[in-house]
Amino acid sequence: MIAPAGIDRVLFTEDQVNQRIREVAAEINAKYQGRDLKLIAVLKGAVFFLTALARAIEIPLTIDFLAISSFGGGTPGMVRIAKDLDHPIQNEDVLLIEDIVDTGFTTRYLLQNLAGRQPRSLGICTLLDRTVRRIVQVPVDYRCFEIPDRFVVGCGLDYKQHYRNLGYIAVMDPEKS
Ligand code: IMP
Ligand code: MG
Repeated sequence: MIAPAGIDRVLFTEDQVNQRIREVAAEINAKYQGRDLKLIAVLKGAVFFLTALARAIEIPLTIDFLAISSFGGGTPGMVRIAKDLDHPIQNEDVLLIEDIVDTGFTTRYLLQNLAGRQPRSLGICTLLDRTVRRIVQVPVDYRCFEIPDRFVVGCGLDYKQHYRNLGYIAVMDPEKS
């Protein structure tokens, strides 16, 4: 495997990521047994995790997407919905699929927005969790990995829109890119 320029070190290999996704999918299978689950992913970062997770989940499920964009000159948490869900989620069991929960502002905004649509249940499942940077508390139900306070790319996470397609999670060094 030849790492592209900009990669400092690999945090989790593709095998480790896939193994961990299968473990989390097994937890979800057990928890939502007998239900029909809706997975909601935020474009674009969470799409890679969503597809891998969805393939490992064995209960009936549907998927939907939303996109957000920030405003307010980069002030944390100042986000709005740029593309809304295609369908209502009222009375559905919903899992919000995130690439990373960092400060928590984005997730909290999404959680409040989705809760207002009266789902039957609403959970959070994230590929990466960086709790050391948390500013607002959000209830993360499923996490694949806790990560240190370094900027990471791969498995959907980008640096200037690149590196999303890496199968592994790596620490990014912008000086090297
Ligand atoms: P939060 O609102 O601070 O939790 O930010 C979450 C969003 O910031 C994520 O959905 C990512 O798009 C982006 N982000 C935060 N940390 C990283 C990182 O290490 N690599 C790539 N994107 C990140
Ligand atoms: Mg991004």
